[in-house]
Amino acid sequence: MDLLHNPRELQAHADRLRAAGHRIALVPTMGALHPGHLALIAAARRHAECVVVSIFVNPTQFNAAADLAAYPRCLEADLAVCREAGVDVVFAPQENDLYGPGSQTIVEVTELQKPLCGATRPGHFRGVASVVTRLLIAAKPHVAVFGEKDFQQLALVRRLVRDLGFDVEVVGVPTVREPDGLALSSRNVHLTPRRRQQARVLVESLRAAEAAVCAGECRRDALLALAEREVDKAPDARIDYVELRDPESLAPAPAQLVGPTLLALAVHFPRRGDAGETVRLIDNRVLPVGQMQEEAP
Ligand code: PAJ
Repeated sequence: MDLLHNPRELQAHADRLRAAGHRIALVPTMGALHPGHLALIAAARRHAECVVVSIFVNPTQFNAAADLAAYPRCLEADLAVCREAGVDVVFAPQENDLYGPGSQTIVEVTELQKPLCGATRPGHFRGVASVVTRLLIAAKPHVAVFGEKDFQQLALVRRLVRDLGFDVEVVGVPTVREPDGLALSSRNVHLTPRRRQQARVLVESLRAAEAAVCAGECRRDALLALAEREVDKAPDARIDYVELRDPESLAPAPAQLVGPTLLALAVHFPRRGDAGETVRLIDNRVLPVGQMQEEAP
């Protein structure tokens, strides 16, 4: 496995691979790798001979300096995970490698960055779009792999790739979950055991809404009320948002849903040992409106 730090080295490496006729798949991450990331690496392997994993805690997508400082950094352990998973190249740049001195160029996906997580994390998706653009230019991949857990991020990257004409296929990978359904996230460790139990309400809310849709419910407000009621079953949960939106444009859903509709949630729980601080968990599901009524339970 090669470990590269400099974008120029990675570009030269990609040029050699492309000249030899190999396909390259890029998996962008911020490290602290878990089985969710491993599913992305496995998907990348299905698409290309060379799998590049980038590990970079991107400062421009953090709203708060404290959050950035607290983000787990464990490069040695991550390298071992990558080696074990058969990754070909790890790209682990320093901040200066990606954002050189005097760097001024930012990338904004103007509309898709606004709702959902963008509403409570101003600037977050500008940071994501700016770093993903730099990573695509550095790695020159044929395929770039992202998790559906961060649905808005995936939608935004698809738009970015289309708008800027990157010759890259964006692949989405279904969310990897704990046995009880909670989406894997490096943030789950910040929950006390009691709140970890309560955090199941996110997936239970999605399941309840899906079951209602399968039983024929397609009124937006009824589904939102149902989803919120499920989350409220956790005494320590505080809803950031529960929303129904178009899966591609992320436009708000109409009062009567007519086709597949994104149900997205973000929920705060108090953070373990940190008075006042919270852990914000997200999850989503595309509800099969108009598709699966015949499979109603
Ligand atoms: P990070 O949070 O490290 O996530 C890296 C990738 O792993 C993302 O595409 C994310 O959607 C995916 N992922 C995380 N948890 C997952 C799960 N439980 N199942 C499936 N996939 C999962 O997302 C980022 O980093 C950054 O914003 C990045 C794209 C690297 C830009 O800095």
